[in-house]
Amino acid sequence: MNEIKLCVNIDHIATLRQARGGVEPDPLKGAEICEENGAYGITVHLREDRRHIQDKDVFALKDIVKGKYNLEISLSHEIIKIALRVKPHQVTIVPEKREELTTEGGLDIKKYFDKIKRAVKDFHDSGIEVSLFIEPDPEIVKLSKDTGADHIEIHTGTYCDAGEEKDINREINRIYEAADAAVKSGIGVNAGHGLNYSNVRRVLRSPGLEELNIGHSIISRSVFTGLSAAVREMVSIIRSGF
Ligand code: PXP
Repeated sequence: MNEIKLCVNIDHIATLRQARGGVEPDPLKGAEICEENGAYGITVHLREDRRHIQDKDVFALKDIVKGKYNLEISLSHEIIKIALRVKPHQVTIVPEKREELTTEGGLDIKKYFDKIKRAVKDFHDSGIEVSLFIEPDPEIVKLSKDTGADHIEIHTGTYCDAGEEKDINREINRIYEAADAAVKSGIGVNAGHGLNYSNVRRVLRSPGLEELNIGHSIISRSVFTGLSAAVREMVSIIRSGF
């Protein structure tokens, strides 16, 4: 069995920086720390509304990320053009607008099939792999394969939000079935959204799973795992006087 790899989504570091409009915390520093501590790669989402990650970040990350650089993008012409200039290892196409969504949240591959197929070709011509963020549904997996994309990223959000055991079981089985369909049709399997330190375990059993994209739970936990040292350092400066 291949090792399952972690790409850390560092958008939330940028969210915190944008709250003050300054320079800290610096997502680039965050990327460095993630890679130093075992992350296989870094994921960021350049949103059309530039809510967190900015254009300057996506270009700067290209120079400093040592492992895999996965750039999440929408189907917007402007964003696709930027991604082609950045040249990450992989782009993951995600829905941003309501009309690009299937019922539960993945990309509407059927509706945007031609557009996605053209984008896949343009990215392949530039040596960039393409992943499509989709609902765990074997039919959508097959359509994704037909676009020429290299990977699917299975949307794990509904599984993560499920509260009752029977719902959790139903949703994890949908993930397994979609992953199995992907393996059978010869498209790579990534997964992500909403994964945390407990719900990730069952996802690890998905057939053919290669990469997980996880952001919110890791950045959230780091606030508390890092808070004691941060407070101690400031107390020590204040105590030592001027
Ligand atoms: N995968 C995709 C396609 C996403 O859009 C996101 C969120 O930006 C993630 C994974 C990571 O989700 P989370 O922050 O909930 O771990």
